[in-house]
Amino acid sequence: MAANLRPLIAGNWKMNGTRASLAELDAVVAGAEQVPQADLLICPPATLIAAAAVKAAGTRVGIGGQDCHAAATGAHTGDISGEMLKDAGATAVIVGHSERRTDHGETDAVVQAKAEAAWRAGLMAIVCVGETQIERDAGKAKDVVGRQLAGSVPAGGTAANLVIAYEPVWAIGTGRTPTNVEIEEIHEFIRSNLVQNMKQFGSQMRILYGGSVKPANAAEILKLTNVNGALVGGASLKATDFLAIAAAGA
Ligand code: PGA
Repeated sequence: MAANLRPLIAGNWKMNGTRASLAELDAVVAGAEQVPQADLLICPPATLIAAAAVKAAGTRVGIGGQDCHAAATGAHTGDISGEMLKDAGATAVIVGHSERRTDHGETDAVVQAKAEAAWRAGLMAIVCVGETQIERDAGKAKDVVGRQLAGSVPAGGTAANLVIAYEPVWAIGTGRTPTNVEIEEIHEFIRSNLVQNMKQFGSQMRILYGGSVKPANAAEILKLTNVNGALVGGASLKATDFLAIAAAGA
């Protein structure tokens, strides 16, 4: 099902990068022609979005934010709205990353409001879900992901405005990944959920896998059923690794 969706390879730089790091973006832009089969997105820290968007303008590389506030404007010191990201040149934003859920106590309701805010601003929302090690060990991975999908994903998603990223918390930044069977199990579960709840769009939405994706494991992960791309953290900081991951999905 949905095996032929155009893959999206998204890089999440997290709290890494200064202006000098834009040289890596330049290299991604330069290498993008070699991976025509995938959509490419780089999500740098907010301080670099405007400059990154200028560099990526007119290329195959999109620029995204890593988070946004639910409101468009207001007294929210330190926060950034979807409208601001859009104005800076972003076309997408990650919401509900487990680091936001943990570090900032973001609930499913907050994540859902942020996804709606992304749409209001005209951005594609990449909504992250995923269980912790304790939850997986307790046999609750599907329960957790199902609850997060129900609570974090607003109604009204389309293939163009919504991407789901399955990122088991225990696989993020650890070098550990689930088995292929475990990844397919959860991706199939997410697909069924989307088909049930998003009407005709459910089969067309991309479901990314994230958590310790690197050039060495990208090919086997990207060929799994219902894996329509990857959300890449650490390995996205180096253009050669990021491009190798994108090429592996060909
Ligand atoms: P990682 O991060 O690739 O460094 O494991 C993935 C993510 O958090 O999106």
